[in-house]
Amino acid sequence: EKGEYPHYMLKEIYEQPHAVQDTLDGRISPQNDEVIFKELEKYREYLSGVNKVFIVACGTSWHAGLVAEYLLERYARLSVEVDYAAEFRYRYPVLDNKTLVLTISQSGETADTIAAIGEAQSLGAKVLSIVNVPSSTIARNSNMVIYTYAGREIGVASTKAFTTQLVVLSLLTVYLGLLRRNLPADQAAVMLQDLKRVPNEISKIFTEVDNIKRIARAFHKHSNALYLGRGVGFPIALEGALKLKEISYIHAEGYSAAEMKHGPIALIDENMPTVVLAFKGRRYEKILGNIMEVKARKGKLIAVASASNDDITRVADEVIRIPDATESISAILAVVPLQILAYYIAVEKGCSVDQPRNLAKSVTVE
Ligand code: F6R
Repeated sequence: EKGEYPHYMLKEIYEQPHAVQDTLDGRISPQNDEVIFKELEKYREYLSGVNKVFIVACGTSWHAGLVAEYLLERYARLSVEVDYAAEFRYRYPVLDNKTLVLTISQSGETADTIAAIGEAQSLGAKVLSIVNVPSSTIARNSNMVIYTYAGREIGVASTKAFTTQLVVLSLLTVYLGLLRRNLPADQAAVMLQDLKRVPNEISKIFTEVDNIKRIARAFHKHSNALYLGRGVGFPIALEGALKLKEISYIHAEGYSAAEMKHGPIALIDENMPTVVLAFKGRRYEKILGNIMEVKARKGKLIAVASASNDDITRVADEVIRIPDATESISAILAVVPLQILAYYIAVEKGCSVDQPRNLAKSVTVE
């Protein structure tokens, strides 16, 4: 039931602190020294011998996979490749019994992802799937399953499924980093403590809703937008752009901010707003440099920035704040305002938010 909310999507956006909490519950030891994934117990040996992770998914779940690529590489020192399930299944992927194929799916019924699992297993790889719907086909067909506990997601545009996927992928990174002895225990403990704070940090973002509504009113008449980010912010930019296109029908594209000068910057003028992920992290200074170039071409800038990034107000026309956090946690937080922005722009345009044209909740055909 939607209850007090006008749309399921808004309800599901607000459910994120709870969904993330349910997904974390029981999975971090009280001393923050261990990730508890009983579901992986039987495969510990396989997982410690893996030398490559191949992540396969579609749409929003694929974006979660792109975030995981950065996390697994950096903290578990694993070599990672990410592909769309529909591409993977018709490639000639190089896989063997030292490859972990990781699929990500909210519904557990996406046809291309199901087919990719069969393909991976026939090549000798074991499949671990991150799934939201219990006893779905993907859950049944995989060797290992980790559930996200987002609860039922009804809005066609995925929101709470995505943030809970990011949380499971963060836990999995720590799990594999410790298992493979590539992540120092003290660093793992800090990461796990940070993850425990995510539900509360997401709640704080809802204080920005009035600000975001105002921005939505100011920008809903544009017919194009760019979303820029770097590092883990890049897949979040892709996800922000996807949210906007699917529910508001505004053409939006996500890019690595560093790619702008290789072509897309030609698009910039006063009619092309740019949303930039400018949270704290190793690439913050670089991002500032990239967006100065947009500014110089009179592009309007909306920045999603960390609470203490004071200098951002000098460059951005509009600023949406997220709590200060590490770069990896900031990626999880930063998608929330982008969901809210897409939502209010779609509402402003009178679009059918929960059931956008031409889309189905799960894509069970190829
Ligand atoms: C976007 C969206 C889709 C799905 C994609 C994969 O908001 O919902 O892009 O993410 O169809 O679906 P699942 O995760 O069910 O495999």
